Amino acid sequence: MSQGRILRFPQGFLWGTASAAYQCEGGNRNNQWYRWEQQGHILSGDECGDAADWWQRAEDDFDWAEQMENNALRLSLEWSRIEPTEGHWDSAALDRYRHMLLDLRRRRITPVVTLHHFTDPLWFAERGGFTDEMNIFFFVRYVQHVIDALHDVCTFWVTINEPNVYAFQGYLFGAFPPGKQDLKQALLVLRNMMQAHVEAFYAIRSKQPESLIGYCLHYRLFDPANPLSFLDRSVAGVQERVFNWTPLQAGETGRFIFPAGSLLGQIPRAAGARDYHGVNYYTRDRVHFDPLLATGTFGRRVISPKAVRSDPGLDNSFGEIYPEGMYRVLKEVYRRTNGNKPLYITENGFSDMQDDRRPRAILEHLVMVQRAISSGIPVRGYFHWTLVDNFEWNNGWHVRFGLIDLDPQTQRRSPRRSASMFGEICRANAITENIVERYVPELLGTIFGASGRELRV
Ligand code: BGC
Repeated sequence: MSQGRILRFPQGFLWGTASAAYQCEGGNRNNQWYRWEQQGHILSGDECGDAADWWQRAEDDFDWAEQMENNALRLSLEWSRIEPTEGHWDSAALDRYRHMLLDLRRRRITPVVTLHHFTDPLWFAERGGFTDEMNIFFFVRYVQHVIDALHDVCTFWVTINEPNVYAFQGYLFGAFPPGKQDLKQALLVLRNMMQAHVEAFYAIRSKQPESLIGYCLHYRLFDPANPLSFLDRSVAGVQERVFNWTPLQAGETGRFIFPAGSLLGQIPRAAGARDYHGVNYYTRDRVHFDPLLATGTFGRRVISPKAVRSDPGLDNSFGEIYPEGMYRVLKEVYRRTNGNKPLYITENGFSDMQDDRRPRAILEHLVMVQRAISSGIPVRGYFHWTLVDNFEWNNGWHVRFGLIDLDPQTQRRSPRRSASMFGEICRANAITENIVERYVPELLGTIFGASGRELRV
């Protein structure tokens, strides 16, 4: 069958899904998120429980990844399993991870392993977690232990997932554990996590010279609700700088500078301490100046009634589906880092229980990735969040990001339409006219311009 017109991705492009241990494995009771759940903070009242039961049966879901011809898969390790009490290591837990990684490799799926994805062992949290610079030592010791144990089965590492989300949600907005609302602490945690990344980077590099090491930030766009309003523009600009660019710049230069210009600290040896930039992109906010909202740096988030939305979640945190944002973020990360390293989209996804917006959203975002690549930005891979519905932090089971629907009661899986479309794209390493025609025909004109090959955005 002729594929018709086609948007190709570069040879060797990585296609996969991303997930995190706590959200998928089940049975994790030794970290601060479980305690948070026990304290009744999950908005839906749900329990993580067996989650997607990956501790027992991750390999069954790897079947789906293989069927979609994914050539990579990102998952995370649960520190509280590997080091359940301070300085005591559980070799059975490491063996379980070894088994998963070997299983992926057997399927020719490159494992991409995140060493920290939001959860801390309880003993580490009791010590103050990342509020205390001295605790970075414990994180790096854990990382070294993992590399010693798994260096022969994985070479692609994400040290820390989204230090900006962990710090701001946990220490400024109070939505994640430990539920603090303290800007100074949030910035301290962010700084310490950036330093933890840098130290982990050198620790891994010295043990495994051939590895690929990076971290990922969550990039959210902040646009003025009213572009003509000076105040809206100002608060949107401040939010974007604090959330996206301050951490990126700190990682690049080692200088942690707050938007007002004050130096909040130095991060020794930061410059060059990464092999790629991990980009997690989901949405944008429009921001309206609000003099009463001090914790939100005087910006209130509004969503245009015309916007296509993800399912909002109980805290309304999942907003507009805004594909152009993918291109804007990639371009900005590339520009701000002087194009010094390749980029991977380590997460991009949509909460859409009915799967009636996701196929279109995936296509539109991938078109933007392709546009970035065509304009010379070295994007080397795309990881969709996520493979199978999983426990969504403070929203519990209320929102669904999976390509595959999961009933957590019965553990029954049903692939959504998005899964088969994503699989076809991965298999073709391209967006073909044929795929667009069958899944989202209304996009044919937008994706393949009148000239046949030209991409219109
Ligand atoms: C996090 C994931 C989360 C996803 C959807 C990302 O910021 O890394 O753990 O499930 O967003 O909210």
